[in-house]
Amino acid sequence: MHFSTIISTFLTLGVSSVLAAPTTPSFIDTTSSTGNYQDVSDYFNLLAKKALNSHFMSVAPVCDVNSAVMSESPVPLEPPTAGLTLHHVAIGRGVQNYTCANSSSAPEAAGAVATLFNATCLASTHPEIANILPSVALKFDLSDGDRNSAFPRISLFPSNLAVSGKHFFNSDGVPFFNLDTPAASYGKASCAKDAAESAPDTAAKGQKGENAVAWLRLNTTDDGTTGSIKQVYRLQTAGGSPPASCEGMDSEFSVQYAAQ
Ligand SMILES: *[C@@H]1O[C@H](CO)[C@@H](O)[C@H](O)[C@H]1NC(C)=O
Ligand SMILES: *[C@@H]1O[C@H](CO)[C@@H](O)[C@H](O)[C@H]1NC(C)=O
Ligand SMILES: *[C@@H]1O[C@H](CO)[C@@H](O)[C@H](O)[C@H]1NC(C)=O
Ligand SMILES: *[C@@H]1O[C@H](CO)[C@@H](O)[C@H](O)[C@H]1NC(C)=O
Repeated sequence: MHFSTIISTFLTLGVSSVLAAPTTPSFIDTTSSTGNYQDVSDYFNLLAKKALNSHFMSVAPVCDVNSAVMSESPVPLEPPTAGLTLHHVAIGRGVQNYTCANSSSAPEAAGAVATLFNATCLASTHPEIANILPSVALKFDLSDGDRNSAFPRISLFPSNLAVSGKHFFNSDGVPFFNLDTPAASYGKASCAKDAAESAPDTAAKGQKGENAVAWLRLNTTDDGTTGSIKQVYRLQTAGGSPPASCEGMDSEFSVQYAAQ
């Protein structure tokens, strides 16, 4: 399958608000499974349908964040605490880190780092695309844009969502979301895990066939949080889980993942 052909077709169709990257990262297919192509193919089919439908729409879609609907894991996480409203939807793309004590131990979680891309409008207008995007984006490495450009831009291929923040673990090992960027100051969220539920069996595997990490609900804590964010959900996960055993693994390693 020739993605570059499909992509240039879409650019000709004028779907440049969804597809436009200065460089095209290669498709990663280390598992050689046809399921790998399926998600990417579904994604472009969805875009094609939207592009055709948009010809019949008389007004541009309104990005009303209140119309976004949260996906549910097989065992649903608690809904947001009463009184809270949805503030921002992001697609996170990065790595989960693990450490290994010795070859007979099990890998231990050691934080994560991910770039967050603004999917608020996408989740409000085209939730199916926002839901499949983590799986599709994991099939490509994060692109740092045109390296020869004076303004390289990190991009979440094959979308062109703008960066809205950064997820990492701080020096105390606390999951942290920094949503202050030149585009907006949504605040910094210092979090504690509230609950975890397994991803659906159909969740996208990682670049080397790794299972999808759990779906989570996190609460913010007073320590280091600015702005008004109270809860963070990690949904629609793709990849990110470690192997069951440390055998053959380095003492520190990272597993690629993506999530909504
Ligand atoms: C391997 O590491 C685990 C976890 O730290 C430890 O409990 C175990 O004793 C270690 N085994 C060996 C053979 O060193
Ligand atoms: C995770 O590993 C990456 C390298 O893959 C590194 O850049 C990052 O600092 C690590 N983050 C944490 C929290 O350990
Ligand atoms: C994210 O997208 C929403 C909806 O299009 C927009 O209102 C908001 O300003 C964007 N935020 C950032 C940080 O780009
Ligand atoms: C997270 O916040 C909710 C709502 O305040 C609360 O019910 C729940 O116990 C909190 N979880 C933790 C682990 O503190």
